[in-house]
Amino acid sequence: MEESKRVKILQFVQNALLFGDSVVVPTHIDRHLMAFADEEFGQNWIEAQEVVDVLATGLRSILQSRGSTEPPAYDLGSLMAHLFGIGPLHFHKVPFLLRNLLRKSVFKNQLRILDLGAGVGISTLSTIYFFELLANSTRLVTGVQEEVHLTFTALDSLDEALRLYQKHIQGYRPVFPEVQVDVASPIQATLSPDPDSLANTLGRDRYDLILASHVLGEMRKLGITQRAKLLAELGKYLEPGGSILFAESASSAIPSEMNQLKARAVGEGLTLFAPCSNAWEKPTGRQCYSCGNVSFEKVRRPNIADIIGTVCEDYSFDQLAANNSWVFGILRADDVIHHSQLEIGSGLFTKLAASPQAENGRATVYGAVAKLEVGRVDNEPYFKLCDQTCGSDVAWLKFAPEVGVPALENGDVLELENVSVVPAKGGKNKVFLVVDGETRMRNLSRDFRLLPSKHVLTQEVVG
Ligand SMILES: C[S@@+](CC[C@H](N)C(=O)[O-])C[C@H]1O[C@@H](n2cnc3c(N)ncnc32)[C@H](O)[C@@H]1O
Repeated sequence: MEESKRVKILQFVQNALLFGDSVVVPTHIDRHLMAFADEEFGQNWIEAQEVVDVLATGLRSILQSRGSTEPPAYDLGSLMAHLFGIGPLHFHKVPFLLRNLLRKSVFKNQLRILDLGAGVGISTLSTIYFFELLANSTRLVTGVQEEVHLTFTALDSLDEALRLYQKHIQGYRPVFPEVQVDVASPIQATLSPDPDSLANTLGRDRYDLILASHVLGEMRKLGITQRAKLLAELGKYLEPGGSILFAESASSAIPSEMNQLKARAVGEGLTLFAPCSNAWEKPTGRQCYSCGNVSFEKVRRPNIADIIGTVCEDYSFDQLAANNSWVFGILRADDVIHHSQLEIGSGLFTKLAASPQAENGRATVYGAVAKLEVGRVDNEPYFKLCDQTCGSDVAWLKFAPEVGVPALENGDVLELENVSVVPAKGGKNKVFLVVDGETRMRNLSRDFRLLPSKHVLTQEVVG
């Protein structure tokens, strides 16, 4: 595909995810969830006290388990309560990770996907939704209907989850006909880092994508090292170029622990592909602190949540959404990201600390947004900026009042021309970069037209 068209497709997908109906549950999926509830519980389930009690008890047990060291005990009620009550909050996460992957590579037309701890299938549904969005964007840009064939295998320790998953996903009809979905025989198993046990469970099958959404955080009986070993073992079940998509909510897992888990998985031999600059890759080797970051998205209440809110008194979607930060990562078993063009010193990134400053204390630098914080002393927002040098905490980005603080996303790559560089007190390596009226800031990740083609990785670039 022509690079200019690919860039346009990326823009469509990006805009739909950022501004469209997808950060929330899109209407047709919401309708599907409601139809599924009707099918499972009967048309008048909202009025049936026993169903309301089952869902309310399920929600309560999931919410209570968050503060406990015991994982939630899933049964029919809690699985359904998860699907309708908490699951919709997870909906946007896998599509965001897929979008990050798409920025760097192209997807095959046939993908085999393993959904670990699949539950009733919210992460599978959101994956299908992403490919619908991509198919639609591709058709809009190229006029060509590009078929994509997705085969999902659900793995869960619970039979009940797998029964519901099969029914729920098989019953979903994609809006865009070019997206074909198959559901393979599910795998009923309890995940374990033991290589033999995993080999028994997964056999010789290999996958292009492994979804690990809101399951590793629940495996509290295993230590972080054990869970990292599990991730590394799972890497052996990836097709070449395949990825493990990892997402965990701060409301159900401890973010620092989940960041540690990612770092340990890298220590066990996996490569952390993202986050770390959405447009470029990080060099392999030491892990930059920005890769251990947490993202937050505001989500609109899905329709189904209104019903749940009406029938289950102690359910508050708003309260859940207020804590909707998440830890995420894309892990790979191979080293395809390491590309000489992208190495430090290749000219793409100047190490901020080494950046030549003009006499007037101004400079031109690149950096990736790592996270937003609020200053303890001045109470003003500032961004940590990663310059891809790994292990560095060198620059904090601030905006002068006359400029205002723009909306930035973690991983956005910024080019800051003529930015004011102010050394921070007490840290040789630390500087404040202050964007003022004289600075020209370009967000290279937002506007793909600004990226020369070598920055948007295609198969040809990766080689
Ligand atoms: C919170 S749900 C996640 C559902 C879906 N992936 C999502 O992101 O919304 C967690 C699921 O993981 C399953 N699970 C928890 N620990 C597991 C383990 N050790 N092995 C297999 N499945 C597990 C539970 O039975 C449950 O269905």
